[in-house]
Amino acid sequence: MAAQVARQHAAAKPVLVLNGPNLNMLGKRQPEIYGRETLVDVEQACRKEAERLGINIEFAQSNHEGAMVEQIQAAREKNAGIVINAGAYTHTSVALLDALNAAELPVIEVHLSNIYKRESFRHHSYISPAAVGVIAGLGSHGYLLALQALARLLAR
Ligand code: DQA
Repeated sequence: MAAQVARQHAAAKPVLVLNGPNLNMLGKRQPEIYGRETLVDVEQACRKEAERLGINIEFAQSNHEGAMVEQIQAAREKNAGIVINAGAYTHTSVALLDALNAAELPVIEVHLSNIYKRESFRHHSYISPAAVGVIAGLGSHGYLLALQALARLLAR
């Protein structure tokens, strides 16, 4: 019974959908790679999918590594899980990896583009060891798949 109550409480916390640097430029930025949808379009699609799945989300974007670390630290108490597209910090940031590990939450890593088809410096992700799973190359649909995966994990 206590476990059930705890689970219901966890499910009521929103999932944090956190976007890193330059993702505010979606729609304008290299549309041949990232598509023509804006981040507002992605947020709207995520909100619609979250509603369908019966979960709450909080959608955020920052161009600053420290601000992302602080959002992840706050997520430990505030959020039930994290969907993260860390942008270029994916390939550079031990600080984000440490923050994600410290959060002790289910994490799904998302990339709009297939990072393995691109420059070799994009083939390595510092944050993947903290993630349950990684979705790359499916455009904004990847965010919706990540929400589906988290909803399933949180319902367990
Ligand atoms: C990205 C891939 C990264 O390599 C890049 O730096 C980004 C976006 C993606 O969504 O495909 O900013 O995370």
